[in-house]
Amino acid sequence: MPPSLPARPDPDLPEDDVLAGSTGATITPYRDGPLIVRGDFRLVDQDGGEIDPGRDTVALCRCGKSGIKPFCDGTHKRSGFTAPSAPARPRPAARILHEGR
Ligand code: FES
Repeated sequence: MPPSLPARPDPDLPEDDVLAGSTGATITPYRDGPLIVRGDFRLVDQDGGEIDPGRDTVALCRCGKSGIKPFCDGTHKRSGFTAPSAPARPRPAARILHEGR
């Protein structure tokens, strides 16, 4: 029997975003910093327009202060942004997914 596809991790995300996770990209939230995206990914705007990342590995702003959003420009350091790398507790949606299996 072939392996089944994983359950959709977040029903609020557009399906394209869910499928993008299966292309081999790795997204790493850096402690007190950006989201680092590595691997095979496409970056698109909300209307589906391609955004040229300009490189194979990109840093996406998650502090909201960058002057070149969606990319990180290092402003998070000066603004005192803090965030852990991993969540301190599971998301409620993750619990629902586990209960449904
Ligand atoms: S995370 Fe670096 S500028 Fe926002």
